[in-house]
Amino acid sequence: MNFLEDYQLEGNILEIVKYPNPILKKVADPVTEFNDELRDLVRDMLYTLYKAPGLGLAAPQVGKSLRLFVMDTDYKREEITDAKGNETYDLSEFNPRVIINPIFTGHEGEILYEEGCLSLPGIFENVKRADKVTVEYQDMWGNKHTEQAEGVYSVCLQHENDHLDGIVFLERLSLLKKNLLRKKFLKSQALA
Ligand code: NI
Repeated sequence: MNFLEDYQLEGNILEIVKYPNPILKKVADPVTEFNDELRDLVRDMLYTLYKAPGLGLAAPQVGKSLRLFVMDTDYKREEITDAKGNETYDLSEFNPRVIINPIFTGHEGEILYEEGCLSLPGIFENVKRADKVTVEYQDMWGNKHTEQAEGVYSVCLQHENDHLDGIVFLERLSLLKKNLLRKKFLKSQALA
């Protein structure tokens, strides 16, 4: 199966749950069935991620409380105007990643990186995380992998893994900053 071609040609855009929806605070359940239903969900999550466009999307963000997320920290996004005159993105050089049932077995160093979240559109802030991580996970066929990551890839893994534990990136900030950004976001949503 040409997975990449498949989700580019067909896929469903899933509704992204916004903060402070209670599902974003739940600890998600492990994935136990590696079947076509799971792979359909993965395809639709990747499709939704690229349409957003974002770097990562966790299952709780599309209303599924499962320990699964998709990421792509490599693809190119170019803003273009389409034939109808709408602003859109031309995407290329995809490197889709699917991470299921992740377990972090190592953390090293520190990195400060400006994060955003598809569940908190318009909010960006520097978050301190481990620079290097080691993660064990399963792919969508249930095969086990171990990987070492650093930099933005490591940041994204940690941000998405937090979603599986019911944590949005605001929780990683000082109480003062968290409350300020929380208020700012809720106000922007009320006006939208
Ligand atoms: Ni997020």
